[in-house]
Amino acid sequence: MKPDNIKPINLGNSGLLVSPIALGCMRLSALDEKDFSELIKKAIDLGINLFDHADIYGRGVSEEKFGNFLKKNKGIRNKIIIQTKCGIGKGYYDLSAEHIINSLEKSLVRLKTDYVDILLLHRPDALFQPEAIRAAFNKLYRDGKVRYFGVSNMNVPQIELLKKHLEQRLIVNQLQFSIVHAPIIDEIFNFNMANDLAVNRSGGMLDYARLNNITIQAWSVLQASWKEGTFIENPKYQKLNDELTLLSRKYMVSKAAIAVNWILRHPAKIEPIVGTTSPIHLAEIIAAVNIELERQEWYNLYLSVGKTLP
Ligand SMILES: NC(=O)c1ccc[n+]([C@@H]2O[C@H](COP(=O)([O-])OP(=O)(O)OC[C@H]3O[C@@H](n4cnc5c(N)ncnc54)[C@H](OP(=O)(O)O)[C@@H]3O)[C@@H](O)[C@H]2O)c1
Repeated sequence: MKPDNIKPINLGNSGLLVSPIALGCMRLSALDEKDFSELIKKAIDLGINLFDHADIYGRGVSEEKFGNFLKKNKGIRNKIIIQTKCGIGKGYYDLSAEHIINSLEKSLVRLKTDYVDILLLHRPDALFQPEAIRAAFNKLYRDGKVRYFGVSNMNVPQIELLKKHLEQRLIVNQLQFSIVHAPIIDEIFNFNMANDLAVNRSGGMLDYARLNNITIQAWSVLQASWKEGTFIENPKYQKLNDELTLLSRKYMVSKAAIAVNWILRHPAKIEPIVGTTSPIHLAEIIAAVNIELERQEWYNLYLSVGKTLP
């Protein structure tokens, strides 16, 4: 059942309406057909309409299984938003026109669809030529294979450089962002300070995105790192877990939902891409849309990982 407060967000102010929380499909290649189908159906039932893919997830198996699901469930394709990414090659990054076009065409075959709603450039390729990206985007757009475009893991000057050349708008930048990984917030508080948190890693991405109508999508919202797994119930993040427990009792939602609301609570309308493979976890997480952390609670969570305000 959809939570009452699942109001769609206007992605990058483009008119494309998407759910405030999306389902990331990176880990779904591991699921068998039955569990895969159950998770996607649950997501749709909960009001999630955006599904985030990449050509490389499960070496193509995540897209393949999603395509099989669409084939078996006719009528769903046009009710959902499919986003995929390209640009990560085998041991290198490749944003050449040829790679972008080939990768997207292979994604369409695996997804068993004629178009994706959104294509993101997965990571900046140091050798990228904006003119080549422009040519690839124009072809994919004209051929009706991609409706909207965006980027992932890019900083402000990289986006500016692309914008100077592209004919289509960039409506998304997908970044790692969570309570335990928040450089885009750290650089705001620590402006002009002589400490490590003052390092301007993103070029002021959070304010830039707001000024330029780019929606930030957050990845790994519950994950501490690949090595450590999630920070939920992780003893290394005891103080954070204590805060999460306190707030989960107050708002009567799971700790994961509190951590996801920490992202939703920001007025930039950041869209968390959650990567759970469990329908139970997903239902718990979506309850994040029903609550609103108080300002001080938001700060307490931010500070619970050992940071201080200047
Ligand atoms: N653009 C990029 O460069 C990039 C990079 C990485 C990921 N992504 C995207 O972001 C998505 C999410 O990434 P992610 O999977 O790393 O993020 P995540 O949502 O932070 O992590 C998911 C992990 O948290 C666990 N989890 C979820 N709810 C939990 C709960 N209530 N209690 C304990 N553990 C819980 C999940 O286990 P269960 O499955 O058991 O729930 C899963 O192992 C990906 O699917 C992908 O679409 C993008």
